[in-house]
Amino acid sequence: MTIEFDDTLITGNETIDTQHKELIARIKQFVDSCEMENGKIKAIKMLDYLTEYTNFHFSEEEKLQEEIGYPGLKEHQEKHAEFKKNLKDLDAFLEEAEGPTDAFVEQVKSNVVDWLFTHIKAFDRSVAEYIFLNSHPDRL
Ligand SMILES: [Fe+2]
Repeated sequence: MTIEFDDTLITGNETIDTQHKELIARIKQFVDSCEMENGKIKAIKMLDYLTEYTNFHFSEEEKLQEEIGYPGLKEHQEKHAEFKKNLKDLDAFLEEAEGPTDAFVEQVKSNVVDWLFTHIKAFDRSVAEYIFLNSHPDRL
């Protein structure tokens, strides 16, 4: 599974892009820990580390949207809540299980990696565009 920030994920907003790089780096560390032998403790730790940055990043993004009066804020917040729930569910699963299984890693792939990449390309890109257009009214 390739988990890296590439050009297709660029939104054009520097703050958002920088934070996405860190978020994706933490997702990669989490997935790597899941693929280690006897990785349960490590995986729980890395999921925690990922959750911490997710909370920070989402609240920063939401603040940014509030500041500019972004019309899609509520829907975006709901998306963020969905992702946070995905992380919570994975944590609950991991606590119960003996360790990360292949099925677990598959779930991480769809509910974390694919989810985030799709979210960035649609939702975050439109936020970045809105910010850009608002700061360059001549382009409207
Ligand atoms: Fe977002």
